[in-house]
Amino acid sequence: MRKINPQRVFDTPCKHSGLTRSDSFRPEGLLSVSTCMDTDFRQEMAEDVLSGMTGSVKSIPCKYLYDAYGSRLFDRICTLPEYYPTRTELEILDRNAHLIMEFFTEGEGSLIEIGSGSDLKIRSLLKGLNREGARHVRYVPVDICETSLLRSAHRLLDDFPWLCIHALVADFTRHINHLQDGRKLIAFLGGTFGNFTHEQGVALLKGFAGIMSGRDRMLLGIDMLKPPGIIEAAYNDQSGVTAEFNRNILRHVNHRLRADFRLDDFEHLAFFDPDREQVEMHLRARSRISAHIAEAGLCVSLEPGETILTEISRKFSRMRAMDCFDQAGLVPVRWFTDANAWFSLVELAVRAG
Ligand code: SAH
Ligand code: AVI
Repeated sequence: MRKINPQRVFDTPCKHSGLTRSDSFRPEGLLSVSTCMDTDFRQEMAEDVLSGMTGSVKSIPCKYLYDAYGSRLFDRICTLPEYYPTRTELEILDRNAHLIMEFFTEGEGSLIEIGSGSDLKIRSLLKGLNREGARHVRYVPVDICETSLLRSAHRLLDDFPWLCIHALVADFTRHINHLQDGRKLIAFLGGTFGNFTHEQGVALLKGFAGIMSGRDRMLLGIDMLKPPGIIEAAYNDQSGVTAEFNRNILRHVNHRLRADFRLDDFEHLAFFDPDREQVEMHLRARSRISAHIAEAGLCVSLEPGETILTEISRKFSRMRAMDCFDQAGLVPVRWFTDANAWFSLVELAVRAG
């Protein structure tokens, strides 16, 4: 793991871990940043894109939606009237933060946020801390997008100047084992869990369960099944931000892998598949398209109407969610939801024995 120095730097012991690290100076709070992305990210992306674009159904992993611009677009999506998940989850958080954050009253620990993105939701949780909890908590945001991670961390310190933050630039599908020992509450919010297939999702939860002791907790945000019209509107907003977010994956591929996709050649397609209980987001070729992806050593062609799958977003029944938890060795301790039961925040613990 390599340290990144986001601002003025000096070595100081972190009050919680006792480790000596390079930290950016703040009058009271601390920010240190490390990265697990030491291996050649471009190489890994080239391999992922090569394998996705040569499969029977063309696809690009959804983590590549989030370069700096993609992360900003996602922040805009969160404010759209059609995109209900953010405001619904936030409402649940605001109402229950004091209960959830009691975890830190009992002793020191890390609040680890997986795929943290903007600081919107963690603010709600931090506001739920009591005086004792505020003394004990250390915040560990984990995200693949360094720009968004640093922006959010600095914004948080403006309003929570006492906070000790250890930000981690990492791929949570590969680097979970880099997370610290010690008491932890792992927040995996936003319904990002739904961006994985059942098998991938269970493997991911198993990974988290593997670094949790009996006293640790996970707070998992899941988007629930609801009338398809409401779901489809959330992924087909009137202002076209989701379409721009979707097409940006090609801009990212062009930039990193020296590809020559023309974004206007593709239209945004997002629909709810009731059998699979998931939204599928695709880019559909408007005409016959050929593109060269230099860093992947690949020439790709698409027929008119052919699509590239860029994301799935699963919507859960309680039963299906319970099935995932069970297979991952996790048990729900508390289940928080909104008045319509559109979104759930589930507090999970590792199954004993
Ligand atoms: N948690 C926020 C953001 C959700 S968007 C919310 O609830 O609104 C998904 C976030 O996960 C983005 O910030 C994206 O950069 C990050 N992300 C996606 N795939 C990732 C991966 N494999 N590893 C680390 N971060 C990832
Ligand atoms: C991050 N994730 C939970 C979002 C979702 O709803 O699946 C990403 C997104 N895609 C389109 N709009 C939002």
